[in-house]
Amino acid sequence: MAQIIDGKVISQQIKDELKEKVAALKNEGKEVCLAVIQVGNDPASTVYVGNKKKACEYIGIKSLAYEIPEETTEEELLGIIDKLNKDDTVHGILVQLPVPKHINEENIINAISPTKDVDGFHPASVGALSIGQKGFVSCTPAGVIQLLKRSGIEISGKECVVIGRSNIVGKPMSMLLLRENGTVTICHSRTKDLKEVCKRADILVVAIGKPRMIDASYVKEGATVIDVGIHRDENNKLCGDVDYASVEPIAGAITPVPGGVGPMTIAMLMNNCVEAGMN
Ligand code: GUN
Repeated sequence: MAQIIDGKVISQQIKDELKEKVAALKNEGKEVCLAVIQVGNDPASTVYVGNKKKACEYIGIKSLAYEIPEETTEEELLGIIDKLNKDDTVHGILVQLPVPKHINEENIINAISPTKDVDGFHPASVGALSIGQKGFVSCTPAGVIQLLKRSGIEISGKECVVIGRSNIVGKPMSMLLLRENGTVTICHSRTKDLKEVCKRADILVVAIGKPRMIDASYVKEGATVIDVGIHRDENNKLCGDVDYASVEPIAGAITPVPGGVGPMTIAMLMNNCVEAGMN
């Protein structure tokens, strides 16, 4: 029987810790403020943005909502970001992705001041992470580190295998595990003998985007398995990239989907906002 790593409990702990910090900042006359920009009304984005606003409310962070039309031009969006960059009462700026096709996502990410880049997507934030300087860290991988640490799972010296090399998860995840002194291997679609590489892992982080792809044949007995994926299967049931029923009996520890990594992303976004507010 694996230890079940409960992201709902751990994210709640983090949010409660942040609530206290925000209250203390308020006592010093400082109100933490996050600006959330959504261009258009993609239904999934509306749900994510709604959850971010709810988390702000719970913790006591002021949230400014910019819900702007699909037709907004890149120049107009850059104008809003520029105004928010210059506004000292705004500590964090988040543009919900994806943006409509006529807007260049890279230009938007690059326009947000690294001091307010609570998503950790700016090249300066990513660069700072890779050379051990201070900066905001992408929320999902930061959440995975918290899940491991708060579950008593040692990273130092361990074989860590990350499947996936996205800018938002795989790459920063690998840098964070390295920062924690793990021995890190990054796998991707061209990796040869994926199964054999995964079987070496003491800590296996799966972010491939393929429902239930990783079964017990990829996992060493007793390994910690972190599932970053989230999908709806043919029966409309939520599942991850890991075949939980197959892997759970042999894993040492495992995150469920839902209720594993998912709730940690927003908790770490809130953590980044509070850090931005303390600067
Ligand atoms: N779209 C999906 N995930 C994210 C995220 O973490 N941040 C932003 N800004 N957009 C997203």
